[in-house]
Amino acid sequence: IFAAVEMAPRDPILGLNEAFNADTRTTKVNLGVGVYFNDNGKIPLLGAVKAAEAARLETQPPRGYQPIDGLAAYNKAVQALLFGQDSPLIANAQAVTVQALGGTGALKIGADYLKQLTPASTVYISDPSWENHRALFEAAGFKVETYPYYDAATGGVAFGAMLAKLKTLPAGSVVVLHACCHNPTGADLTDAQWDEVVAACREKGLIPFLDMAYQGFAEGIEPDAAAVRKFAASGLQFFVSSSFSKSFSLYGERVGALTLVTDSKDEAARVLSQVKRVIRTNYSNPPTHGGAVVAAVLTSPELRQQWEEELAAMRTRIREMRKGLAERLAERGVKRDLSFVTNQRGMFSYTGLSAAQVETLRTEYGIYAVSTGRICVAALNSRNLDYVADALAKAMI
Ligand code: LMR
Repeated sequence: IFAAVEMAPRDPILGLNEAFNADTRTTKVNLGVGVYFNDNGKIPLLGAVKAAEAARLETQPPRGYQPIDGLAAYNKAVQALLFGQDSPLIANAQAVTVQALGGTGALKIGADYLKQLTPASTVYISDPSWENHRALFEAAGFKVETYPYYDAATGGVAFGAMLAKLKTLPAGSVVVLHACCHNPTGADLTDAQWDEVVAACREKGLIPFLDMAYQGFAEGIEPDAAAVRKFAASGLQFFVSSSFSKSFSLYGERVGALTLVTDSKDEAARVLSQVKRVIRTNYSNPPTHGGAVVAAVLTSPELRQQWEEELAAMRTRIREMRKGLAERLAERGVKRDLSFVTNQRGMFSYTGLSAAQVETLRTEYGIYAVSTGRICVAALNSRNLDYVADALAKAMI
């Protein structure tokens, strides 16, 4: 059965880790995958997470099966992060949240369920988007198209073209939107632009699917939820995938959630029953540890406070790295306007480097970036910044 199997290409993002790990150069730098490293080049274990884990180990909890939809306290905490504690969606029990295997797992459950609900829909993703969006929705059986998003000339959003395209889409189209810290470009919509997107979704009868993988990495937990809250206030039905991989530095624990906003408590109960079937036939129920830790942090006022401070420190360090990189590139003679490096938000910067230039960075310097020119600025630190700036400046000049 395997004789004719062809070798699949490496994953465009996670595949870089394999190549990076095999590279023996001590100067190598991994700016490929979206992972936050501290100034020592290490993935941090947050103090709030350590405290919650210590308390959990202390109680030696049994490891029975979780409910299919995961830990109730976790799902409740996710809704508060997304919609705000006082949201009418929560009070009216209109939103369904299920624990999922990271943001990717949430997207996949959502995609599989959407395929049951609206099998003929086309899914629209931004141009460009996270590479796995297309792969994942295609794997769920959807046709995937794009809407214009990035304006290479300004390093910002081509909003006019984006909105014009959304207004041409047939009713029932699924529109995948990055709620904040757009991946890969780091270019986000303004509040007023979000209002227009919400209005277009309403006017054209589109199905919004918001991907929220970086809440807290742009301005903070509350401001970064602005887009989700606008949809919540709109009365529309929509999907949200959440990830805590980055914000809790719990990548390998696969802690995420899928939230579906329905019209009523009754509708929510029926939707939950169906989503549970999707989960049960995929992986039965989610793992215990990561969700329990995140729930413990979010429900303890002290740990929540500590987590927000640690998240703010990550955000601040990324901003410093952006500033440091832009300054060093200018010092090295890059004439291009570099304000995009400091203006773009979240973990990534979209450098405009071609695939060939990215390849040169890898072969000559051991600097790994995504072939689209995306670099993870959260992997820069005080020791590799000059080295990276030297190499990038040579590529950019
Ligand atoms: C990324 O874009 O690098 C991250 O979201 C990690 C991933 O799963 O691709």
